[in-house]
Amino acid sequence: MLGCGGLALHTLVLDVQTEFSVCMGVQETVWLEGKVAVVTGAASGIGRATAERFAQEGAKVVLGDVDHALGEGVASGIRALGYEAQFVKTDVSVESDVAALIETAEHSYGRLDTIFNNAGIEQPVTPSDQVSAELFDRVIGINLKGTFYGCKHAIGALRRSGGGTIVNNSSVSAFANVGGNVSYAASKGAVMSLTRVLALELAAENIRVNAICPGVIDTSMNRRNLDRSSDKPAVEKRWMAATPLGRMGPPEEVAQTVLYLASSMSSFTTGIGLLIDGGRVAT
Ligand SMILES: NC(=O)c1ccc[n+]([C@@H]2O[C@H](COP(=O)([O-])OP(=O)(O)OC[C@H]3O[C@@H](n4cnc5c(N)ncnc54)[C@H](O)[C@@H]3O)[C@@H](O)[C@H]2O)c1
Repeated sequence: MLGCGGLALHTLVLDVQTEFSVCMGVQETVWLEGKVAVVTGAASGIGRATAERFAQEGAKVVLGDVDHALGEGVASGIRALGYEAQFVKTDVSVESDVAALIETAEHSYGRLDTIFNNAGIEQPVTPSDQVSAELFDRVIGINLKGTFYGCKHAIGALRRSGGGTIVNNSSVSAFANVGGNVSYAASKGAVMSLTRVLALELAAENIRVNAICPGVIDTSMNRRNLDRSSDKPAVEKRWMAATPLGRMGPPEEVAQTVLYLASSMSSFTTGIGLLIDGGRVAT
């Protein structure tokens, strides 16, 4: 929490609204009071942190993931804290699963206000001429088509709510890359393009569509990436060298950025990819 005199622009962080409330002596505001949110890939990492943060901020959250046991565990953990959450087993590469996830939100809670299309997988580092069609299709099927299905099926529900927000999880890989990552980078670049197109299509209907572009975040995805490498310290060193802030981002720091884009605090922002990359693209 900032000190009451410390609201300089460069220190703008996402609890600024709470800070303002405290300074003004008024009750703390929550960012998503009365809202209904869907989060895909919510069983782990960035999705989990975001589902938990959305719930703390007043949203009723519907979590989707292929991992039933982990997803149920996250939802029941949220409920144990006194918030509203339910889990729906969802493979985002299957259009009917995504449609059913969004229908559950509307059916259970009467509306949809925001969706975070987050589910995604990595491509194990592979030279591009050795990437099989199956691997390419799988990464595109989850990362790109899964995001498209989430957007497509949310649109009607958001319209019925009179507007809302879509946040897609792209990546710093849409802007900066190393080799060996062709299907992943292609999927995340396409998520950025898709985000811009939908932002234009939906602006007049008060539906804002943005993406986040995380750098190196401390999640299972990167732990798997490290485990596959023959020289973990060298990989970690390379990641740190490419990140001016000199550390991995925890998923909670990504979640607060998603919260900003999902909430009315970003009300004049649509069609952007917001980097959360510790400065990597600035280099
Ligand atoms: N970790 C990073 O450094 C980083 C950086 C940029 C972008 N991202 C993106 O963030 C998103 C979340 O990744 P994470 O780092 O939290 O990884 P993670 O592996 O911790 O979480 C991914 C979640 O997605 C779920 N999932 C996988 N396939 C699915 C499918 N077909 N349908 C539904 N759910 C599925 C997994 O079960 C898991 O719970 C991904 O889209 C990833 O590309 C991550």
